[in-house]
Amino acid sequence: MRVRKAVMPAAGFGTRFLPATKAIPKEVLPLVDRPIIQYAVEEAMASGIEQIIIVISTGRSAIEDHFDSNSALERWLEERGDIEMLRTVRRISEFGPIAYVHQKEQLGLGHAVLMAKELVGDEPFAVLLSDDVMLNPGGPPVTRQLMDQYQAHRGSMIALQQVPAADVTRYGIVRPVHTEGRLVEIGDLVEKPSVDEAPSDLGVLGRYVLTPKIFSMLESTPRGAGGEIQLTDAIKALMQEQPVFGYRFDGERHDAGTRLGWLKANVAVGLQSDDADEFRAHIRGLDLRD
Ligand code: G1P
Repeated sequence: MRVRKAVMPAAGFGTRFLPATKAIPKEVLPLVDRPIIQYAVEEAMASGIEQIIIVISTGRSAIEDHFDSNSALERWLEERGDIEMLRTVRRISEFGPIAYVHQKEQLGLGHAVLMAKELVGDEPFAVLLSDDVMLNPGGPPVTRQLMDQYQAHRGSMIALQQVPAADVTRYGIVRPVHTEGRLVEIGDLVEKPSVDEAPSDLGVLGRYVLTPKIFSMLESTPRGAGGEIQLTDAIKALMQEQPVFGYRFDGERHDAGTRLGWLKANVAVGLQSDDADEFRAHIRGLDLRD
């Protein structure tokens, strides 16, 4: 079955980016000229996803507002003759359709995905963690790469990339059993292991294609690392029943959910933006000596 739907959890407290995220969700912090989550929505649409489900929590209306139409703003832009910006603004409300589902208690990433069960139904779906910003200019979007692999191998797919050995504690880490090109057969999966216990330095990075069977796994997944219901633990249980593969995707990933990662992501996106020439000249002119 084709992958048509994508789930984007966006209900967390954004604790790694406080105090910026005290009143606004991290997903609406801007990356150059767009909220972080818009990059994931655009990636999903460019990958052929037909319906997006965003998991939000109370007080997260900024996300809904961003993807809604704003007729007063549109009228104002029209009257001023700013047709280019009018098009840009209109395009945002034409993504989708986007459905919203509420996570009433923040019990973890796995629990957030479980909230989308009814809207996803009995079909495979993609999961995009929007703070992992994936850039692959000129190539297929990372979600598309996983969707293609899902079709080819008929198994759930998780996006993998090597992470610095000291950072394994921040990620889901896999134990690769066998690698064929970019496809990785997984023996085990551990959420946020210690440096000593990490089975490798291959991290799970914010993109998944999962079969609907994951929902029954999530329903019986106990709280794991950090006291949260972890998607990683449910995937590990899924592996006992169905094939799950890793895929070493092609593309550059930025962790826009942390201060430093967000700064780096802004530089990367800025160097691909319309202002790239002037921005590059600005960086070149900086005195970067200690
Ligand atoms: C989540 C997942 C983790 C994954 C990471 C990628 O962790 O639980 O397995 O490696 O995203 O960004 P979080 O960043 O929500 O702590």
